[in-house]
Amino acid sequence: MKTLIKKIDRNNIDEEIIEQAGAILQAGGLVTFPTETVYGLGANALDEEAARKTYAAKGRPSDNPLIVHIARMEDLEGIVTEVPEDAKRIAQRFWPGPLTMIFNKNERVPLGTTGGHDTVAVRMPDDEIARRVILAGGGYISAPSANTSGRPSPTSAQHVAEDLDGKIDMIIDGGNVEIGVESTILDMTVIPPMILRPGAITAQMLSEVIGTVVVDEALISENSDKAPKAPGMKYRHYAPKAEMVIVQGSPEETVKAIKQLAFAQKRAGKKVGIIATSESASRYTNGIIKTIGSRENEKTVARNLYRILREFDSEDVDYIYSEAFSEDGIGTAVMNRLGKAAGHKVIEAEEITKLQKYRKIIFLSESGNCRAPIAAELLKKQMLKQEYEILARGMVVLFSEPMNPRAAELLKSRGIEVADFETQGFAGEALEEDTLILTMTDAMKQKVRNEYTELENLYTLCEFVGEVGEIPNVYGQPQEIYEEMFASIHNYVCRLSAILNGADEKVI
Ligand code: TXA
Ligand code: MG
Repeated sequence: MKTLIKKIDRNNIDEEIIEQAGAILQAGGLVTFPTETVYGLGANALDEEAARKTYAAKGRPSDNPLIVHIARMEDLEGIVTEVPEDAKRIAQRFWPGPLTMIFNKNERVPLGTTGGHDTVAVRMPDDEIARRVILAGGGYISAPSANTSGRPSPTSAQHVAEDLDGKIDMIIDGGNVEIGVESTILDMTVIPPMILRPGAITAQMLSEVIGTVVVDEALISENSDKAPKAPGMKYRHYAPKAEMVIVQGSPEETVKAIKQLAFAQKRAGKKVGIIATSESASRYTNGIIKTIGSRENEKTVARNLYRILREFDSEDVDYIYSEAFSEDGIGTAVMNRLGKAAGHKVIEAEEITKLQKYRKIIFLSESGNCRAPIAAELLKKQMLKQEYEILARGMVVLFSEPMNPRAAELLKSRGIEVADFETQGFAGEALEEDTLILTMTDAMKQKVRNEYTELENLYTLCEFVGEVGEIPNVYGQPQEIYEEMFASIHNYVCRLSAILNGADEKVI
C-alpha cells in the first residue's frame, strides 16, 4: 500500500488535507495524526473492520482495546451507557487534554474496538489537527499510538513512517508533539476512580476535582502478581533493543555510578548509551551520551524520552544506562515508561559507587613540571580496570610553565607525547574522599598534611606501593640520574596500577 504523507502547518491548517483524511476514515481506512501526547493511528471507531485493520497494521494483540477519540463533549453520550457526575466534572476541567476516561460502552461501539470489553476508553485531545481530523472522520475515531506494537510511541511523523509506512493510507505530519508520553487513563467504572496509566494529568490534579482517586496496584509495585487493569500496560511496551538499566540515587552518585558502569562495559568491548540531563551530560566520558532534558523541568524529559529510545535502537547500543528522575508531576509517567523500557531493572547508585574507592589521583611534586607529570602520564598508559581522573600538580607553582624539557624528552622516547601541558599548583582542589594524593617525598607529604589535616588518602608514592624511599628532585643533574628517576617512577607506577586493579577485582 502506498502511504500518503502530508505535511500540515498547524497555524494555517489546510482544509483539503483534513477533508482527504476524513474521506479515508469514513471509507474504513487508516490515517495517523498528531495529538498533544503522541501520534495516533486513526480509524472509524464504530467500524469493526477498521479496528481489525488497526490491529494488523500495528501488529498488536487484538485483546488490547483502543481509545475512542472525540472532539465534542456532546459526542460522549453517543457511545456510553451513562456519564457519572464525577466524570462530567473531570471532563469540564481536563478536556480537551491528555486524559482518557473509561466508561461502560453502549451497543454502538463494536467489541472489535474494545478488545471484547464492555467498557470503552474515551479521550478528547487538545491538538487542533487531531480535533479537525476526528470531526472530518465522523466524530468517533479510535487511535492507539501510531507505532508498531513493542516499539516506543511516536512523537514525530518520521517515527510513524519508520514503523507504518506502506501499511496505512495516510500520515499527517504536524511536527513534534508537545507532551511526549501517552494520556493518563482513569477508570470511571469503579469507585473510587482508578488510574490505570499515569500521564500528564496526575493523581493529585484529579483528586483536587473529585476527591479520592486510587492508582492501579500493578503500576506501583513491580512485583505485583496482579495483571494491570489496562490490558496494554502488561506488555513490555517501549522496549528498546538494548539491555536497559535505570540508576537511582542522588544526582552526584548517579553520575559516578553510570560513569563506572559505562567504563566497565567499554572495557568489555560493549557499546553503551547514556541517558543524561543537561545538568549532568558534560560529566560523562564514555559511551553515546544523549541529553534527555533538564531536571529543572521534567516536561522536557517527557518530550524527548521516546525519541531517544528510538535513536538508541538505530545506533545498536548493547546497554543503555539512564539516570532516574523525580516522580513529581509528569515524572510519575516518565518513570513508569522508563521502568517498562528497562523491564524494571533499577539499581542503586551507591551499590555501584561503593565498588570504586578512588576516582581522582593527584601526583604531587615540587614545581609540578617533571616528576608529577611523568607519574601521571605513565599511569594513564596503564591498563586500568576503572576510570580515574589522573592529574599532576606542583606544591610551588607561581606561574604556569611547560613541562620540564628533559621530562618531556624521556616520555617521548617511550612514545608518550603530551600536548599543551602547563603546570598547575595544588590548591586542595576538590579533595573528596575518592581523591588519592601521592607525593614524591616525605617532606611534601608532611607539608600537605599540615595544611589539610583532615585529608584521608594522602601518601608518598613509595609508601602507597609498600616501599621505603622517596623520589627526589633531580633538577640540574646529569642525564643518567634523570633516567634513574624515570625508571623508578615507572616501577612504582606499575605497582600502583596493580594495586588499583587488584583492589577493584569485584567490579562489574
Ligand atoms: O495519549 C494517548 O492516549 C494516545 C494518543 C494517540 O491519544 N493513545 C494511546 O493509545 O496511547 P494506546 O492504544 O497505545 O493505549 C491505550 C491503552 C492501552 O494500554 C489499553 O489497554 C488501554 O488504553 N485501554 C483502552 N481501552 C480500555 C478499557 N476499556 N479498559 C482498560 N484499558 C483500556
Ligand atoms: Mg500504545
